[in-house]
Amino acid sequence: MAATVEHNVLSLANGVRMPRLLYGTAWKKERTEHLVRQAIRIGFRGIDTACQPKHYNEAGVGAAVMHALGDGLHRSELFLQTKFTPRSGHDPKRIPYDPDASIATQVEQSFAVSLRNLRTAYVDSLLLHSPYPREAHTVEAWRAMEGIVDRGGAKQIGISNCYSLRTLRALYDASRIKPAVLQNRFYAETDYDVALRAFCRERRIVYQSFWTLTANPHLLADETVRLLAMKHGRTPAQVLFRYLTQVDVVPLTGTTSEAHMREDLAIFEFELTETEIKAISALL
Ligand SMILES: NC(=O)c1ccc[n+]([C@@H]2O[C@H](COP(=O)([O-])OP(=O)(O)OC[C@H]3O[C@@H](n4cnc5c(N)ncnc54)[C@H](OP(=O)(O)O)[C@@H]3O)[C@@H](O)[C@H]2O)c1
Repeated sequence: MAATVEHNVLSLANGVRMPRLLYGTAWKKERTEHLVRQAIRIGFRGIDTACQPKHYNEAGVGAAVMHALGDGLHRSELFLQTKFTPRSGHDPKRIPYDPDASIATQVEQSFAVSLRNLRTAYVDSLLLHSPYPREAHTVEAWRAMEGIVDRGGAKQIGISNCYSLRTLRALYDASRIKPAVLQNRFYAETDYDVALRAFCRERRIVYQSFWTLTANPHLLADETVRLLAMKHGRTPAQVLFRYLTQVDVVPLTGTTSEAHMREDLAIFEFELTETEIKAISALL
């Protein structure tokens, strides 16, 4: 178990409170502020974004957060997660830092933009969007992120799109401040990261999933999942999300539909039994 479970929030050993379901903000462009405001109003308290203008409107997230805080929500009630994206992940015309600067400087510049965009003094979680092809570069970025934690800019750091156990282990061993999050695509091609997830469990790293619904239509259509959905009076998507939260995965949902937002949050209203969990695990 990565942490103590309290309702629908994970209380991590480092003091961070991470909701067990996060609202993802990719690809929402000019609708970002509206959708994030709606998600917060409906009950989401964890927001995932990135300083990557190609896919995310981080300033739109910031506008929504400012609005929610103005409406009486306390900053400590929100879990805000953003990412530093290495140069290769950017549209070359819209890189939010000097691409010719050192990697450490790129991290600093990107993070300064994130704080401005998000209109906050700190983020709860800062992720390296992907490892670099060269381990030394990953470690250089990580050292800069550790510095941000030291200064109180981020409460924890993590990594995304890391599909190699060797790479994650190397980062873990090289780091002074250990990764607290692994955010990965959850799909059959990587065997659902079974080995990585076991490593995460042992090292108290929270595994966050994306592509959870889009990459798994076969799971949603599977008879086991459909029968469980009928039994619990829920949708197959709710059963899959609920299953993941019960095996210590924190899924992201980036739905643009208010009905789906409500359905996604309602997964905490029911629980799968041990036998049902085992039946779904057998499908992965
Ligand atoms: N680290 C990375 O590299 C990375 C990469 C991709 C994504 N992410 C993060 O993960 C978040 C989620 O992205 P995603 O790729 O998993 O997909 P997603 O954006 O959540 O898309 C889910 C799709 O499933 C549909 N859907 C149907 N029923 C649903 C239900 N009950 N709940 C939610 N969606 C339902 C949605 O349609 P409706 O809109 O009509 O509901 C949407 O088309 C992103 O916003 C981003 O924050 C991170």
